[in-house]
Amino acid sequence: MGVAGAAGIGWGAAGPRERESDDALDVVPFYGTHQAGIETTPPAHVAFAGFDLAPGVGREDVIGLLRIWTDDAARLTQGIPALADTEPELAARPARLTVTVGFGPELFTATGLTARRPGWLRQLPSFPVDRLEPAYTGADLVLQVCAQEATTVAHAVRVLSKHVKSLVTPRWVQRGFRDAPRGRTMRNLMGQVDGTVTIAPGTADFDRLVWDDGASTPWLSGGSSMVLRRIAMDLDSWDELDADGRELTVGRKVTTGAPLTGTAEDDEPDLTAVDRNGIPVIPPSSHVARARHTHDGERFLRRGFNYDEAPAPGQLSNSGLLFVAYQRDVDAQFLPVQQRLAEFDALNEWTTPIGSAVFVIPPGVPAAGHYLGQQLFE
Ligand code: HEM
Repeated sequence: MGVAGAAGIGWGAAGPRERESDDALDVVPFYGTHQAGIETTPPAHVAFAGFDLAPGVGREDVIGLLRIWTDDAARLTQGIPALADTEPELAARPARLTVTVGFGPELFTATGLTARRPGWLRQLPSFPVDRLEPAYTGADLVLQVCAQEATTVAHAVRVLSKHVKSLVTPRWVQRGFRDAPRGRTMRNLMGQVDGTVTIAPGTADFDRLVWDDGASTPWLSGGSSMVLRRIAMDLDSWDELDADGRELTVGRKVTTGAPLTGTAEDDEPDLTAVDRNGIPVIPPSSHVARARHTHDGERFLRRGFNYDEAPAPGQLSNSGLLFVAYQRDVDAQFLPVQQRLAEFDALNEWTTPIGSAVFVIPPGVPAAGHYLGQQLFE
């Protein structure tokens, strides 16, 4: 037993020196052209909170709600307690907190703004692989709250939820996590390196594929869209598959995440390569072969998190992926890939979509005095 333990001092009080040099005090800027939390490197913890507007809530109420969320998020993300924060101490560790707000299709109906709803903003069509549960599907508003510390996330979700409680009904909260040394790709709960193929922040590709330029929907310039799919993993039957089977299912190596045709994670998969018997090295049925974009306009940003909840009685686990995709146009970029995977993907034997929601992500708040989503209401 260490000295601190012997003296009966708690871990928090006597924590090792490195506890003080973590990123608890790091902040991500709140104001900007885009909302934070999309281009931002994903931290360890997330909560997605979906809300429905209360009956009778209209345009002015929604503007009021967005003003409150803007003020709360502008403070909390910078390590400042929200107004009337009942636990101001919990705001002291922002830990790279970001708050990202999205609007569901029905918000436009409630506010009388259906003419301004982007054409792609609707629930996804139902796919044969789906087993959607209402408890994780749809919502009028979403908050994506990310931080390096789970306590920070919990505090922010609570503050943001209770400050608007007369205007909304909470529909679901989905918590997730991801762990990876800085600069490395996370692993999902099937053990795979997940998130290799991505769109690098700050690049022309990111501008073109993720951020809206306002060409067809002027108020959305600088915004984006978010698809959130809750995908359950059947880890008990996955356990029965050996390493070769796992690699052929995905098309990448379990150890390094390298494509079966390469040696390093970043190597380009070669979908045309065949072995000496003429059999494709990366099976055409594998997840990467099916998911790979067939043209540039099918690319989107993935920013997923693991989830691991209490199992139902008689079950061993309740785990999966909070699959999150951002793109300028859901119909053009995301939908064709999702349709292809729903038609066939070797991974489908072990994965089941159980939740689904689509949101438009309004642009960022340019400066103090403005509010989130203001461009929609002007
Ligand atoms: C790639 C896992 C669902 C789209 C990958 C990779 C893994 C993976 C391990 C390879 C590494 C990488 O590039 O990230 C999973 C798991 C899923 C899932 C476990 C469900 C639980 C989905 C869904 C979509 C999707 C629903 C889209 C509708 C993609 C794309 C790639 C990819 C576009 C990159 C393909 C490439 O260009 O090589 N996924 N995925 N995935 N996945 Fe998924």
